[in-house]
Amino acid sequence: MKKILVTGGAGYIGSHTCVELLNVGKELVVIDNFSNSKPEVIDNIKKITGKDFKFYEIDYLDREKLEKVFEENEVESVINFAGFKAVGESVAKPVEYYINNVSGALVLLETMKKYGIKKFVFSSSATVYGDPEVVPITEDSEVGGTTNPYGTSKLMIEQILQDLYKSDNSWDIVILRYFNPVGAHSSGLIGENPQGIPNNLMPYIAQVASGKLKELSVFGNDYNTKDGTGVRDYIHVVDLAIGHVKAIEKIYREGKGLYIYNLGTGKGYSVLDMLKAFEKANNIEVPYKIAPRRPGDIATCFADPRKAEKELEFRTQKSLEDMCRDTWNFQKNLM
Ligand code: WQD
Repeated sequence: MKKILVTGGAGYIGSHTCVELLNVGKELVVIDNFSNSKPEVIDNIKKITGKDFKFYEIDYLDREKLEKVFEENEVESVINFAGFKAVGESVAKPVEYYINNVSGALVLLETMKKYGIKKFVFSSSATVYGDPEVVPITEDSEVGGTTNPYGTSKLMIEQILQDLYKSDNSWDIVILRYFNPVGAHSSGLIGENPQGIPNNLMPYIAQVASGKLKELSVFGNDYNTKDGTGVRDYIHVVDLAIGHVKAIEKIYREGKGLYIYNLGTGKGYSVLDMLKAFEKANNIEVPYKIAPRRPGDIATCFADPRKAEKELEFRTQKSLEDMCRDTWNFQKNLM
């Protein structure tokens, strides 16, 4: 049976995408090294879907073990989620980020070539746009000016994929640029569970709501935005996962090309919008204080989602309330 290889399939986006792929009958083989996830996520994917799949606990940098996956499974395409993704951590550990994200992608692509597999979906990020001149951001917006090794590693891999396609246009490649993924599966069994103190807004809000953390620090209220706090395009992780299903279906349907899509809602919400939406959706108070700006932050970032809507028939379905309610539903299960 031909399978989709999902690297990093126990991670936040990877696990939700595995659920949606299984829900539409795709056959998977999943790898993860649990560097930022836990074994029970694999069990929960199976519990949610009632489906089974082969899993390998390996590091995709381990060429010998990765080749074994291709030897033992009829892999037809690959979705690559594996990689480190904490912006602040990447500034402190650039070499680790470039080895894991860039070298890992190169080992994966070289192994795919060896086995003649040329269908590839890449988990990229809106951070490749740096500090955008104009919003909403389209796929033709200028990339570069990334402010951290995490974003730069994503940009490097995008460049590698462009060069690979130029060298051999029999590859089918889709690059997906995520805006701000938030939320969790409605079952509450999988969601975002970062190790240590969360860097990102929504898991931080959820941990303040649960009492695990004292209060939210709002990083600056003097930006040129409607209420002075940072504006971002938050997309429900289940919508994001479905965007990957649409991308892989496009490759199977049409193939032969390199495609780039923004995955966002096209709506921008401020930090205070998100805090108030979370309080309203869950009838819970989230204490906060205004703190200094976070270095590297930009004021406003949100997507023009029309290209994915047109070419992938992808439209986000989940509301801001869904994002807040599902985040809290998952957080409560961690308590
Ligand atoms: C959102 C807003 C902060 C925490 C990151 C990374 C990258 C990408 C998306 C995958 C900003 C403010 C945050 C806090 C705050 N993911 N904030 N207090 O920085 O937009 O993007 O996630 O590619 O990982 O680029 O997300 O959630 O950190 O910040 O005020 O404790 O919330 O200033 O305005 P960001 P974020």
